[in-house]
Amino acid sequence: VPVDPFDLVVFGATGDLARRKLIPALYHRLHDGQMPDEARIVGAARGELDRDGFRRMADAALEEFVGAGELDPDARRRFLSTIDYVRLDALSSDGWGQLSAALPDADERPRAFYLSVAPRFFGQVAERVHGAGLARPDSRIVIEKPLGHDLASARALNACFAGHFGEHQIYRIDHYLGKETVQNLMALRFANALFEPLWNARHIDHVQITVAESVGVEKRGPYYDGIGAMRDMVQNHLLQLLCLIAMEPPARFEPDAVRDEKLKVLRALAPVTDLEAVVRGQYAAANGTPAYAADAESAESRTETFVALKTEVANWRWSGVPFYLRTGKRLRARVSEIAIAFKPAPHSIFPGSAGRTGQNVLAIRLQPDEGITLGMTIKDPGPGGLRLAPAELDMTFADRLAQAHLRMPDAYERLVMDVIRGDQTLFMRGDEVEAAWAWVDPIIAAWDERGDRPAPYDPGSSGPEDALMLMHRDGRRWREIAA
Ligand code: BG6
Repeated sequence: VPVDPFDLVVFGATGDLARRKLIPALYHRLHDGQMPDEARIVGAARGELDRDGFRRMADAALEEFVGAGELDPDARRRFLSTIDYVRLDALSSDGWGQLSAALPDADERPRAFYLSVAPRFFGQVAERVHGAGLARPDSRIVIEKPLGHDLASARALNACFAGHFGEHQIYRIDHYLGKETVQNLMALRFANALFEPLWNARHIDHVQITVAESVGVEKRGPYYDGIGAMRDMVQNHLLQLLCLIAMEPPARFEPDAVRDEKLKVLRALAPVTDLEAVVRGQYAAANGTPAYAADAESAESRTETFVALKTEVANWRWSGVPFYLRTGKRLRARVSEIAIAFKPAPHSIFPGSAGRTGQNVLAIRLQPDEGITLGMTIKDPGPGGLRLAPAELDMTFADRLAQAHLRMPDAYERLVMDVIRGDQTLFMRGDEVEAAWAWVDPIIAAWDERGDRPAPYDPGSSGPEDALMLMHRDGRRWREIAA
C-alpha cells in the first residue's frame, strides 16, 4: 500500500548508516511502489555538497549496496529526483534557515527527522529541530542505539527528548525488530492456537537465544572498546527477542499494547546475582586474523566480544524455565536463532535404546536461511521394526518468497515506512530501554568490580569453554552454531 507523500530529513546523511542502509531501503520502497515520487528526502550534513553532489553520492551508495546490476533504471532516476540536500551544522545555527525553506510548510505531509549522527549529538540535534520550529505536533524523530550506555545516561537521554517531543513522536530503532522473521515470531505465537497451550513452564524445558557473528569488530575496534557485547547486543537485540518469546498475548497488535507486554517481561527478569551464570569472552588471534586487543588497539582491553548467560523470567508463566542467551563475534558462523526446547515425553512405551524419544525443539531461524523447524521423533521409515529417529518439519521462508517472486526485505525498509505511517509497534518505548539497562547495569558493575579479563576464545569456535559449561552444569547443551 503506498504511503502518502512525506518529508524525511536525514541528519548525518553522508555517513555510513545513511549510505549503507537508509538510501538503499528507501530506493527499494519506491521501486516496490510504496514510496511515492512526490516524497522529499532531504539530506542534511556538514559536507560541502550541493543537491547534485549529494544525488551522486546517493547514486553511488545504490550501486554499492543494492548492486549496479540490480537497479531498475526508471526507479533509480525517480528515486534520485526525490533527493535534496542542505548544508547544515547540526551543532550551530548554520543552515537551519535553508532547511526550513526546503520543507515548505503549506502541505501537511508527515514529517520525520532521522538522526543518523553520533549519539552524543542526539540531544543537541533534537533541541535544534525543536528550536528552529521545524517540528509539528505530529512530526517524528528517529534515533537508534546506543541509547545511553547505562541506566542513568538512558534516563538523561529520555528526559532530554521529552523536553522537546512527546513519546508518540519518538521512534527508537532496534533493527532486529524490523527483521522479517522477528515479526514472524509474533505471527507464529499469536496467529496460531497450536502453541499457546504449550507456551509455559509446564511444557517448555528451556529457551536458547543465539546471535552469532563470524566477523570481528573490524574497523569499529576503537569505538567498540569499552562498549562490549553486553551493551552492544544483549541490552537491546537479545532482550528484545526474549521479550517477544516471553510476553503475554497483547490484546491488540497496537504499539502500546505490544510494548506494555514487553515491558512487563523486562521488569520480570530475575537479577543475575550469580556471576557463574554469565560468561564473557574475547576473541584471540588465529592464522591471519588479529586478536580483539589488536583490533581495538588496546593490549589490556577488558571489553568482551562474547557473552553467554542464563536468566529467568520470574513470573507465573515462566517460573523455573531457564533462558540461555549468547552472542559473540568471530564465531563459527553467522547464525541467529531462537530455540524453544520442550520437555520430554513423560514415559516411553517403546522398548530398549531404539525406543528413546528425542526432545521436541521449535527453532526459529532469524538469519540466514530464515525459517522455522520443529524437531520431532518419528518411526524410522522402512520395514526394519519400530525404531525411533529424529526428523524435522522444515519451513524455509525463502522458498515461499521465491514462489511469489519476492525478496527478503531489509529491516530498515519496514522500519522507515513505519515511521512515515506513524506506527510505533516495532519501536522501543523509553521505559523499555530503561528497564533493559536496569537489568544489565548490575552485571556490568559486578564485572568491573571483579576487574578480570574476559576468557580468550578461538576465532571460528563457539566461544569460551565456560559457555559450554554453563549449560552442561544443567544437563543441557547449546545447539550447534552452524551455517
Ligand atoms: C548492531 C551491532 O546493532 O548489530 C553490531 O552494533 C552488530 O556490532 C550488528 O554487528 C548485527 O546486526 P545484524 O543485522 O547483522 O545481525
